[in-house]
Amino acid sequence: MTSSRAHRRSDSPDHLSTDTETASGRTDRQPPRSVHRPQFDEKSVVPGESPLSDRVEQSQPAPLSTAIPRKSTEFSTGAQPTGPAQPAAADDDLDVSRFVTPADRKRALAEDVRTGLTSSPKDLPPKWFYDARGGMLFDAITRLPEYYPTRTERGILATEAKAIIERSGADTLVELGSGSSEKTRLLLDALVAAAPAGARRRFVPVDVDESMLRSATAELRLDYPSIDIQAVVADFDRHLDQLPTGGRRLIAFLGGTIGNFPPTARVDFLRRLRAGMRPGDALLLGTDLVKDPGRLVAAYDDSAGVTAAFNRNVLSVVNAELGADFDPRAFAHVALWDAENRWIEMRLRSLRDQTVHVAALGLDVSFAAGEEMRTEISAKFTQDALAAEYAAAGLRLAEWWTDEAGDFALSLATPAPGSTTGAGPALHLGL
Ligand code: SAH
Ligand code: AVI
Repeated sequence: MTSSRAHRRSDSPDHLSTDTETASGRTDRQPPRSVHRPQFDEKSVVPGESPLSDRVEQSQPAPLSTAIPRKSTEFSTGAQPTGPAQPAAADDDLDVSRFVTPADRKRALAEDVRTGLTSSPKDLPPKWFYDARGGMLFDAITRLPEYYPTRTERGILATEAKAIIERSGADTLVELGSGSSEKTRLLLDALVAAAPAGARRRFVPVDVDESMLRSATAELRLDYPSIDIQAVVADFDRHLDQLPTGGRRLIAFLGGTIGNFPPTARVDFLRRLRAGMRPGDALLLGTDLVKDPGRLVAAYDDSAGVTAAFNRNVLSVVNAELGADFDPRAFAHVALWDAENRWIEMRLRSLRDQTVHVAALGLDVSFAAGEEMRTEISAKFTQDALAAEYAAAGLRLAEWWTDEAGDFALSLATPAPGSTTGAGPALHLGL
């Protein structure tokens, strides 16, 4: 692998200052951090806003059982919520289908943690960043000056949402990895604007993080009375073939989350998505594009330390849900650009020799000082590379929209004529 270790951060709580090794190898001294150090960094994330610690505490959702009365349907046995949109629910009632129960989630986490922590090198999949706190930290990342993807994608949507909805002809918007669905409002506005008078439309946000999904759904319901919102708690690694069908669907996968899949899993994901598409359905995909490594690394190693806190949050999730005793402060955030694979890689580097006990697994895991564990890749694309991946999955690149600087792209893909499941040879991609 030709990883260029472009940028590293050592932020041990034992140090009152932070050393940042830049692409050129020089070390910048950062200002001292707070001595009173909670589990995440306390700096203000956005100028003029309250510090992250305040924002997290203030916006912490109330317990799910009391915050939002639910109308939940569980599908842990593989049954599927299909058919037309649900009737509008009462004001205090959300329509939430769950493919992932808390027990399923714990089982899947346990499996990933056992596999990842007993592999060499160790790794943990990025989906486990996202508990309630992880979702809020990601939200804070999207407002950072260095993190350009969200605002760039929003800019493209602001200009092109009408064209996207018209081109797709959709009456149903399905959003995978929907998170806060904040940018998605631009698509929902266009969906409502394009609907004939009195016609209802449908929105299906899908996310593995139930807390964020519920708060987003509750807000959207108030703001879009002509849209039936059918939220689905699901893991798109496992439940892609069970998502609601019916209507003419635009399946949006925004933010560049497709880049968080390893390459073979990515094409497999596109194939499974293609297999579930009916004639008339389309995929709207957000992809971050290859650019100057310095900008890329800065986007994943911000000066306020929010991405570092997000990265370490996976350890807090394993502690909370599997009774592990990770000390997140004993791991440094690492972000590097892998030029050969064209992806950003995030890792956690052990700051000392240590052994971590994972109670729910009866597992002791040793980390050597300096040992690195991969927690995320974030692949960057070119138009040609993406078109080839679409082709391998039985999809056809139909439209390509980008910002003026060519930083980020939205593309529309439709089932390729004659294809059904996209069983094309992955060999062409060297996968
Ligand atoms: N689409 C939003 C959020 C991106 S953050 C945006 O563009 O800003 C990635 C989102 O994907 C998170 O909300 C996370 O909970 C969700 N996610 C990650 N892995 C997932 C999985 N395997 N299944 C379902 N959702 C997942
Ligand atoms: C969700 N995903 C597209 C983000 C990304 O840019 O790969 C996750 C993220 N990781 C660090 N910062 C943001």
